[in-house]
Amino acid sequence: MSLLSVARLAKTYGGAAALRDASLTIEAGEVHALMGENGAGKSTLIRILAGVVQADSGEITVAGEPASIANARDAYRLGLRFLHQELNVASRLSVAENIFLGRAYPTRWGGLVDWAALRDRASAALAALSASHIAPETIVGRLAVGDRMIVKIASTFVDDASAPGRIFVMDEPTAALTSEESERLFRILDELQRRRAGVLYVSHRIEEVLRISNRITVLRDGVSQPPIATAEATREMLIERMTGRTRLEAAARPRQSTNARVALSVDRLTGKGLEEISFDVREGEILGLAGLGDAGGDRLLRALMGAMTGGSVTIAGEGVRPRGPAEGWRRGLAYVPRERRSEGLLLSQSISDNVALPHLNRLSHLRLFLNRLAERAETAAVGRRVRLRATGPRQRAWRLSGGNQQKVMFARAVAGAPRLLLLDEPTRGVDVAARFDIHALLREIAAAGAAVVIASSDREELLALCSRIAILTDGRLSRIVPAEGLTAARLLALCYGDDRV
Ligand SMILES: Nc1ncnc2c1ncn2[C@@H]1O[C@H](COP(=O)(O)OP(=O)(O)OP(=O)(O)O)[C@@H](O)[C@H]1O
Ligand SMILES: [Mg+2]
Repeated sequence: MSLLSVARLAKTYGGAAALRDASLTIEAGEVHALMGENGAGKSTLIRILAGVVQADSGEITVAGEPASIANARDAYRLGLRFLHQELNVASRLSVAENIFLGRAYPTRWGGLVDWAALRDRASAALAALSASHIAPETIVGRLAVGDRMIVKIASTFVDDASAPGRIFVMDEPTAALTSEESERLFRILDELQRRRAGVLYVSHRIEEVLRISNRITVLRDGVSQPPIATAEATREMLIERMTGRTRLEAAARPRQSTNARVALSVDRLTGKGLEEISFDVREGEILGLAGLGDAGGDRLLRALMGAMTGGSVTIAGEGVRPRGPAEGWRRGLAYVPRERRSEGLLLSQSISDNVALPHLNRLSHLRLFLNRLAERAETAAVGRRVRLRATGPRQRAWRLSGGNQQKVMFARAVAGAPRLLLLDEPTRGVDVAARFDIHALLREIAAAGAAVVIASSDREELLALCSRIAILTDGRLSRIVPAEGLTAARLLALCYGDDRV
């Protein structure tokens, strides 16, 4: 008997179908991957299981019994545990408090919270995940993203209520993790399988899915296809099932001409967590920023966007020192932040307003008004290039799927024909085909003369795009290497400080 089975689920939002006909089953001890392009309906299926939204039709069966999930409590009672795409943790509470969030705290006589017991049980839950490096009293806001996720997983381990069999549902858990953190998560998945739990695992990363899952279900336009045994699946087969395209052909990395003009020159730049960084980027060049964990690529980009505290920055021969992002945008810098929801995406605004936002002060209001139509057309054009899936430029950002929100951030950055493009994890949460198209667009933008600096924890992404890669270690630039001939393994070794070339 399956732990969970969903059959023929359908869900429409205001006339637009998010899910048409989705079926899958999860067996005990199985990691079942759910894949599909941005907007295919993966998170919608998960929200239905979580009781966040109700399906229009279809059936859900848990451990052989028909289940109705009207709210989060129903889902919890049925043994379903969730790591949603946008992780919500209470960042001002401690690790232990987060682990018990929404659950009864252990109490002593008189109903007082037994803090020592709370701490001990939190420690035990963390230890079960080989995560004893996280102290229960730490405030969650201070933890790295990966550790926050482990806290979230630990919170599903503390109680052994008599649920029929746990089902863990993870929506792109590794999108925001470093590769080291991902490895820890994979060990947790092994442990869950050993305990005969079931896992529904959403990811855009094909290699990862091929490695850790038992079966794969692909959703396309809200319709599921019969599951594939992972042992029989290949990368090409999955790409074709998800996108209908038979192959994604990578264009050659652009050749860098050494007599191109210097577009960006950074001299002894300092900022929070950054030590005297110097480098040049030429017009037409894509420079990568690599490093382990929290090496500082994101801080370097933010420093360039206005958070620098010392040193000098020259753009196209002109000394600049933006005092904030608005001024950065005005000077022809464009920036895609890592955390789209906290750093820039306005969820209640339309796609075209989000795209136009930082470009506004370059235009007078009257011109802005006259430009409205042109702007919509521009948004639509860029949107098509990045395979934005939306009902139109006026759709509100909160109604978009996670990957499509990320594409809006990208469209915003390229819309103003920037001289200098600063990208922090630009394809996080973006599906394979769109990621491919975004890479092609970046190469084109560089070929047209812009300079691009990209920080990415995805070493393959850097190797595919960049002509040179700067290695950062704890906020210092340790060296810059040509990408030509470099392999991902070699790049990783360089990040670890291996000095052989
Ligand atoms: N609240 C909503 N109102 C209107 N449409 C919505 C809403 N939530 C989702 N949609 C639409 O439903 C479709 C499926 O979205 P969903 O979030 O399930 O995609 P997804 O497969 O998770 O994509 P991603 O890989 O980008 O996370 C999308 O076209 C999206 O715009
Ligand atoms: Mg999603």
